[in-house]
Amino acid sequence: MKPRYSIVAWVLLPVVVLGIMTLFNRNLEKRNLEYPNQMAVSPAYRSQSENPVLSKGLTGQQPVPGTIPRGFMPFNYGTSPEEAKRAGIELSNPFEKNKENLERGKYVYTNSCAVCHGASGGGDGPVIPKYPNPPDFKTETSKALADGELFHVITRGRNNMPPADSLISAEDRWKVILYIRQLQGEGQ
Ligand code: HEC
Repeated sequence: MKPRYSIVAWVLLPVVVLGIMTLFNRNLEKRNLEYPNQMAVSPAYRSQSENPVLSKGLTGQQPVPGTIPRGFMPFNYGTSPEEAKRAGIELSNPFEKNKENLERGKYVYTNSCAVCHGASGGGDGPVIPKYPNPPDFKTETSKALADGELFHVITRGRNNMPPADSLISAEDRWKVILYIRQLQGEGQ
């Protein structure tokens, strides 16, 4: 019986070796034979890989010009005072003055603005006078500014006032305006 087993082994061995060689020796230049793999390997291009079909040879494409991310509201105003005036005419606060919004506005104000503008908006925060005085929110000139104009100053900045668009969400910038309006009305 022994010899017969070894003959079977000698016949099977090359078949197994050849099989393993075909499986692992993949030619990356062309499509290879492969066992059905239940789609574990996707024939689709990976997003970071080169692509002979799409423009610029990239699989991951740039968004079409003018694309707006979901939930993002573009702010199409430049930095000039004229643009601030235009924002004042065209924009209005989308949030109503209720307890919840005012509380959020106060939170943002206390944490991001009071350091310069002062707790009550008098332009006398703890960094003043080491930092140039911001205007007192309670002056008539400040009160006369439209909501959209305040939003423009907060978003784009003005002179020594740093822009906050990358730090504070548009929603919070509108809510902080509600709180500034409340500070302006205090003591009247
Ligand atoms: C680093 C100090 C600093 C911080 C922080 C700061 N501001 Fe100002 N802000 C200023 C200065 C200085 C001005 C005056 C700018 C100018 O010369 O026109 C100003 C002006 C303004 C004005 C225009 C007021 C007017 O009457 O013309 C508004 C509105 C305002 N800031 C809101 C805010 C809000 C809201 C925050 C917080 C999100 C904030 N600021 C944070 C320094 C600051």
